[in-house]
Amino acid sequence: MALSSSVYILNAATPTLEQERLDFQHHHLFKPLAGKLVPEHILIHLQARSEPKVADLATGTGLWLQELASQLPSDATLDGYDYDVSKFRATETLPANVRLGFGDVLKPFSSELHGRYDLVHLRLLMYALKADQWAKVCENVLTLLKPGGWLLWGETGYPMWQCFPISPAWNQYLDIEMRGAGMLGRDVAVPLRLLQQVRDAGFVDCDDKHFSSISVTGLEKRMTQLMRAISFQSLRGLVEKGGVEGMRTHDEAERLTRAIMEDMKSREANCGMTWVWGLGAG
Ligand SMILES: C[S@@+](CC[C@H](N)C(=O)[O-])C[C@H]1O[C@@H](n2cnc3c(N)ncnc32)[C@H](O)[C@@H]1O
Repeated sequence: MALSSSVYILNAATPTLEQERLDFQHHHLFKPLAGKLVPEHILIHLQARSEPKVADLATGTGLWLQELASQLPSDATLDGYDYDVSKFRATETLPANVRLGFGDVLKPFSSELHGRYDLVHLRLLMYALKADQWAKVCENVLTLLKPGGWLLWGETGYPMWQCFPISPAWNQYLDIEMRGAGMLGRDVAVPLRLLQQVRDAGFVDCDDKHFSSISVTGLEKRMTQLMRAISFQSLRGLVEKGGVEGMRTHDEAERLTRAIMEDMKSREANCGMTWVWGLGAG
């Protein structure tokens, strides 16, 4: 898929901003939220196998894969795929068994990758997929898994982004975001349907686990920083796709981002994440 025809809007703004935000949210939000990179039963499954193989789809910078490498035996293979290879960490900074390459989650993977992986991981595709594409991705993941291999999907979404007490600016942002998502064909309820979508695709032993930043001490300041980064990037991206009523220019985007930051001085923000996992039958 050409990047320009994708619904993914977070590449807008400066080239390094996306990499910085992805690394920041990995270190300061998603890893502290779950306290680990994968659920214990999946880690045990990987560690018990000789030459375990892991794929990370829509890998971004490849940071999750790089960190997982240190928890697996040195004969493990860790392959990262993204349709935008410009974000990848430099090869020389990666462990020798981590490889990053092009891969589009919406296209069938080549047949030599079929049945190759013990774990396929995805995280944060809420901005990347249209409502009807989640099932297609699940279908493509199934082709990559060995029989008995795991899918693990970490996702956030608008239903998990809140401010306490209510922030008028943040609510305005969510309203604009959801109208923009509708315009682009994305599902505004992500990730509330994900467990069912994974089950419907044919995975078995499926389950989920929910995390909230507000229940982890020490994340408050990081949450505010993240809100600034995400609102700045997503509003810019939306404007570049034509925008929605009330959000058509970069000036309007900057004004709203500033208003959100002002509101945050007297409020607490929450971001949630859900892990969904399922076993490829076989
Ligand atoms: C929010 S980032 C998450 C990156 C990484 N999974 C993480 O958690 O840090 C979403 C990623 O999806 C990638 N992406 C979007 N559409 C894609 C597609 N159709 N195929 C592969 N990657 C895609 C983007 O390039 C971006 O790196």
